[in-house]
This record gives sequence, structure tokens and C-alpha cells, in this order.
Amino acid sequence: SKERGWAIPDLYLFQQFWCPSTLIKEVNNFQKQFQAKDSDIFVASFPKSGTTWLKAIAFAIVNRQCFSIHNHPLLTSNPHQLVPPVEPVYRGDVDFPTIEPRLFGTHTPFPSLPNSIMECNSKIIYICRNPFDTFVSSWIYYDKIKREPLTTLKIEEAFEMYCDGIIEFGPWWSHMLGYWKESLAKPDKVLFLKYEDLKDDANFQVKRIAEFLGFPFTQEEENNQVIESIIKLCSFEEMKNLEVNKSGIIHRFADKKYYFRKGETRDWLNYFSPSMTEKLTKIMEEKFGESGLSFMI
Ligand code: A3P
Repeated sequence: SKERGWAIPDLYLFQQFWCPSTLIKEVNNFQKQFQAKDSDIFVASFPKSGTTWLKAIAFAIVNRQCFSIHNHPLLTSNPHQLVPPVEPVYRGDVDFPTIEPRLFGTHTPFPSLPNSIMECNSKIIYICRNPFDTFVSSWIYYDKIKREPLTTLKIEEAFEMYCDGIIEFGPWWSHMLGYWKESLAKPDKVLFLKYEDLKDDANFQVKRIAEFLGFPFTQEEENNQVIESIIKLCSFEEMKNLEVNKSGIIHRFADKKYYFRKGETRDWLNYFSPSMTEKLTKIMEEKFGESGLSFMI
């Protein structure tokens, strides 16, 4: 089947998810050709869930011995340049990382990941965001980057599509549940994180990520406020105000500044009507019901 996308004119149902027409070949090649290494790290997410933030944090954690905080690559490069999305690598727009551990981003749903990732000791960190804020962030973002001949979707239209799961890499519930279930089945392989938890207690979550990735902080590092300095370096305010993140395009796609909008939780309250709230609440109950996955709304 084919549907109108939010940013891309055509979405095709490919391996049970709504794949942008521009990425089908790339996802296919990624699946068939990618050779994972034991040290690889994947930052996986449904779009608009905090990918940029988690990429920055993961990069800062694993490379903290290599760079001083005053001369850090995150001050002069956008997180998507340092942790490239793996699908466009197969289009030739983006290069493979050359230093190890290699860090990649991916929006590919869990069941469609290449076997080689599952067969080696590579790690996956997945960031998930409550579906209310994810909707608002998506609606605003995709409108900014939409391609010809698409015109602005009214919020009501976008919401109906979202509730039907029709959105780039959707349905969002399948995307989230795929990684969620794997994180329960293989906790050493997949770490499931939530945007709201990172906002709420970044210190705890950064430590958790570092331990999971095999780069735990030493007592000395903790005493020297290394965790705090990583959190500050990767904070919304710092990143948004960097010259490198104020303009310029990433891999022939979005303007870098669009990755930084508001960076808050519960912005959805400014956009949802009571009937939208009721409908999305019901869908979440239906889809997530028995799974144990829940959100701070
Ligand atoms: P909002 O649109 O709600 O502001 P992604 O990186 O997956 O595309 O997600 C984008 C969302 O994460 C946007 O949310 C963006 O503002 C927010 N974001 C980007 N960088 C962030 C950071 N360093 N800290 C917190 N939120 C961030």
C-alpha cells in the first residue's frame, strides 16, 4: 500500500512499517549488506523522540577520554554528523564513521534490522518519547522540511494519520513495542530509554547508558564532575545556541536548526483538544495494554 507521508510525498508499507519512498532501497541495502562489529553502538529511535540528544550523549560518553570539554567535536559538529544515520550511508550521502567504537543512528524498526547486528555483541540504545509530545514535535518538524508537492497538513489531519499509524517509520506503537520487547528479552543488547526520564534525572540516565555501553564512570570521574559536564555539553540550551547548529543542511535533508525546537516535555498540552487527548489515550491503552510500556504524560 501507498500513503501520503508527512515530509515525503510517498510512504510505502514495507516490511510492515511506513517507509519513506526515498529510503526503501537504503533500508534494504542496510539489511542485506551491513556488517556489524562487536564494538558498534546503535542509537535507535522513532523520529522526533530525542535522537539528536541521545546521539550527543552517547558520543560524549564513549569518546570522553579523547577530547577535552573545551575542544570537543560536539562544539563544532552537529550530533547527526558525528553519529550518522545508517540508512543514508547506503545512499552514499554519508560516510561510515572511521573511529571505533562506531556510532550509528537508525530509525529502522527492530524486526527489520540486519541479522549481523543481532549476531554480534554490538549494542542498541533506544530512545522513546511519550506519543503526545512525539506527535506535536513531528507535526511541526515535518511541516518545516516537507518536500514538494506536499502542502501543510492541518493538525486534525495529521492527528488522524498518526492515530492510524501512518507516519514515517510508523506505526509508532509497533516501533516502540519492537524495541521494548527486545529490551526485556535481551537487556544486555537493548537499553530502552525515555525522553522524559532523561529530562527528569539526566545524571542517573547518563550513568546507566555509560554502564550499559561498557564505559562506566570511575569514582575519580564522578568526583571531577565529568557526568555533569557531559550533561551540560549535550543540553538543549547549549546545543541550540552553537553556531554549528544554527544553519546548514545535514545529508541533503533537514536544516540543522530544525532539530532544536523547544526541548521540553508536555508541550502537547498547548496543542491537544479534549477529544484528541481522549482518542490518543485510548489508542495507547489498546496498543500498550499488557506490554508494561507506559509513559509519564
Ligand atoms: P521538540 O520539537 O518537542 O522541541 P529528534 O532528535 O529525535 O529529531 O527529536 C527532536 C526533539 O528533541 C525536538 O523536540 C527537539 O527540540 C528535542 N531536542 C533536540 N536536542 C535536544 C537536547 N539536547 N535536549 C533535549 N531535547 C532536545
